[in-house]
Amino acid sequence: AEDGYQLWLRYQPLPAAQRAHVPDSILVLGADSPTKGAARAELQRALLGMLGKAPGIVDKARLDTIVLARGADLPAGLDTASAVRDELKKLGDEGYLVRRAKLNGAAVTLVAANTDAGLLYGSFAWLRELQLPSGKGADRIALASSPTLPLRVLNHWDNLDRSVERGYAGESIWNWWELPNIIDPRYTDYARANASLGINGTVLNNVNSKAEVLGAPFIAKAAAIADVLRPYGIRVYLSVRWSTPLEMKQTKTADPLDPEVAAWWKNKADEIYRTIPDFGGFLVKANSEGQPGPQDYRRNHADGANMLARAVAPHKGIVMWRAFVYASPEESKAGKAHDRAVEGYDQFIPLDCKFDDNVLVQVKNGAIDFQPREPAHPMFGAMPKTPLIMEFQITKEYLGFATHLAYLGPMFQETLEFDTRIGGRKLTVADTIQGKQGRVGGIAGVANIGSSRSWSGSIFDQSNWYMYGRMAWDQGLDSRVIAREWAAQTFSPDARLLDPVVNMMMRSREAVVDYMTPLGLNHVMGSSHHHGPAPWVDNLERADWNPIYYHRAGRDGIGFDRTAKGSNAVAQYSPEVARRFADPKTTPPELLLWFHRLPWDYRMASGRTLWEELVTRYDHGVAEAAAMQAEWQRMKPFVDAQRFADTAQRLAQQHVEAQWWRDASIAYFQDVSGLPLPAGVRKPA
Ligand code: GCU
Repeated sequence: AEDGYQLWLRYQPLPAAQRAHVPDSILVLGADSPTKGAARAELQRALLGMLGKAPGIVDKARLDTIVLARGADLPAGLDTASAVRDELKKLGDEGYLVRRAKLNGAAVTLVAANTDAGLLYGSFAWLRELQLPSGKGADRIALASSPTLPLRVLNHWDNLDRSVERGYAGESIWNWWELPNIIDPRYTDYARANASLGINGTVLNNVNSKAEVLGAPFIAKAAAIADVLRPYGIRVYLSVRWSTPLEMKQTKTADPLDPEVAAWWKNKADEIYRTIPDFGGFLVKANSEGQPGPQDYRRNHADGANMLARAVAPHKGIVMWRAFVYASPEESKAGKAHDRAVEGYDQFIPLDCKFDDNVLVQVKNGAIDFQPREPAHPMFGAMPKTPLIMEFQITKEYLGFATHLAYLGPMFQETLEFDTRIGGRKLTVADTIQGKQGRVGGIAGVANIGSSRSWSGSIFDQSNWYMYGRMAWDQGLDSRVIAREWAAQTFSPDARLLDPVVNMMMRSREAVVDYMTPLGLNHVMGSSHHHGPAPWVDNLERADWNPIYYHRAGRDGIGFDRTAKGSNAVAQYSPEVARRFADPKTTPPELLLWFHRLPWDYRMASGRTLWEELVTRYDHGVAEAAAMQAEWQRMKPFVDAQRFADTAQRLAQQHVEAQWWRDASIAYFQDVSGLPLPAGVRKPA
C-alpha cells in the first residue's frame, strides 16, 4: 500500500507513449566510486520502476544508453566532447549537464559533470524531467544547472532521546540508542531524497543542544551517519552548546577569550575530524532563549563565533552562528523589553567585519519567529562583509503542524524575492545571500523529517521538504513550478489531478495566514505548543512572549507601531523601503498591523473599515479551508486509498481548526473593541 514512504521517488511505470528512447542500459565511465555507485543504483531502481525491466550495466554504449562521465573521463568517441568540456567550465563543482550525444556512433544520453556529486545530481535531475507531464521525450531532454549557493543544509531539531523540538512526524529518524553499530536503511533513503534535491549538508541535532553531543559516544554515532551520507554528497554538522567544556568539567570557564577554553575546542575539533574527516562544522544558538553564550562573560557574538571558527579552520570547517536573539532576561524584567523584531539587527550589524572568514551568521525568516507572515528580515543586505545564511522553517511550528495543509513555496519565494532597495537599486534577499553585494552565504531549513512512515507527518508536508531543497539549489525557481514537479512525481502527472492540486497548494499558505494572523497580526497563538489561538494571553514570564504585547488591541484600535512613533523597526530597512512601511497607505495590507497601530474604523483600500476587513479575512481563510477540503474529495479517483484518506482527514481537521481560530479571535477582538459583527458575517457556530 502507498503510505508515503517513497516520497517523490516513486518511479511509476511510464505510459507507453513516453517510453521511446528511455535507456535500458547504463554506462558509468572512469574509476568507480561510492557516489557513482549511488547514481547507478538510483538509475537502476528508477528505470526498473518506470519500464518494468532492470536496465543492463554495460561497458560499451549502445542505442539510448545513459552515460555518466566526469569532464576528465569524457571518452574519445564522443562527438561533442569539446563543447561539453567548455560548458562544464561554467558549472562548478556541483553542477551538471545532460545532453543527447553520439558515442562511437550510437545516440546516447550523456550526463556530464566536474565531480561525482555533479553526476549524482544530474542523474536525479534527468529522472525528474522524465516524469514531468511536460514530458519532452527522453531523446530531447537537455539540462545544465549549478547551484546558486554552496551551502544548502537541513537543520534537525532532534534531541538525543529521539524527541524532536517542533517535530510533528514522530521520533527523530536518528536512532541514537542503536547507533553507531546498527544502521537503519532509512538513513540511505534520507540521503537519496536529499541528494535528489541537491541538499549537501545536515545538522544532526537540536539547536538547543546538550554537552553530551561532544562526548566520544555521540561523535561515533555522528560518524556512522556521516559514513552513510557521504556518498550522497552530504556533510554532517553538529549543533553545540556554548558551555560544553565547562559542563564537562574540563575547563573552569566558558569565556571565549580564555586560552584554556580555546584550546579545549581546538582539541575537540581535532578529535571530531579524526573520526569524520569531512565534518562540516558547528551550528550555535548562543545567548538566545536561555542558552549560554559569550555574553555571559561580557564578550560579544563575534568573540564567541571566532573562537570556535579557529578551532575548525585548520580542517576547513565552518561555524554557523545564529542571529535569533532578543533582549536579555534582565532587560526584559527591567521593563526594557523593547521590540523583539529589532534585536537581531541591533546586536549583529555593529559586528559586520568582526567575524572570521569561516563564520556565517544564520538569520531566521522573520525577525520575530517563523510566523505565517513576517516582512523580510532587515539584516539581509545590511551586513555585506558577513556571509548570511537564510534560515527557513520547513516544519510548521506556527502553521498548523502536520495537520494543516500549507505549502510554503509562496512564502519562501516572497521572502527571497523581497527587494531590499539597498544602495537604491534592485537587490533582493536572494541576491544578498548569493553574494551579489557582499559575501556568498547559504541556506538552512529546519527539517520536518521524522520516523513516521510518511517522513513528514503528512503527504503534503513532503512537498515542503521537496520545495525547500529545490529552492536551496536555485532561489530563482518558481514555487508553482516546484509544486507541479512535486505533485506529478508524488501523485500522478494526470492534469485532472495536477491542476487542482497545484492550485490548492498555491492558495494554502495564504488561507492559513487569513484564519490565523490576517493583516500582519502575529504571535497570537497558544503559548508553548503554538497550536491554536490565544490572543488573550498576557501572563507569561517574559512580556515579549505575550500575544497581547504583539496585537496591542484595545478599545481604540489594534496593531504594533513600528514607525518612528513606536519601536522604529522601519528604520532598519533601506530608506526607500522604510518610507513605504512608515505610512499605512503604502504598507501592503498583508503587513499593515505589523507596522502600524490603527483605529478600528481606519479605512482600507478595499473601502471596508479595518474591523470589517479583519473579520472578512478570517472568514475568507475559513472558506478557503472548506474549499480545499471539498476539492480534495474530487481527487479520489486519482489517488490511492491510503494517501487519499489520510489527507482527507487532515483537511477536515484543518477546516475545524480554521473555524476555531476565526471564532476565538473574532470573539476576543470583539470583546476588546466593543464592536458588533459587521453585517453579512456569519455568527460563530
Ligand atoms: C522558536 C521555537 C523554539 C526554538 C527556537 C529557536 O522559539 O519555538 O522551539 O528553540 O525558535 O529557533 O531556537
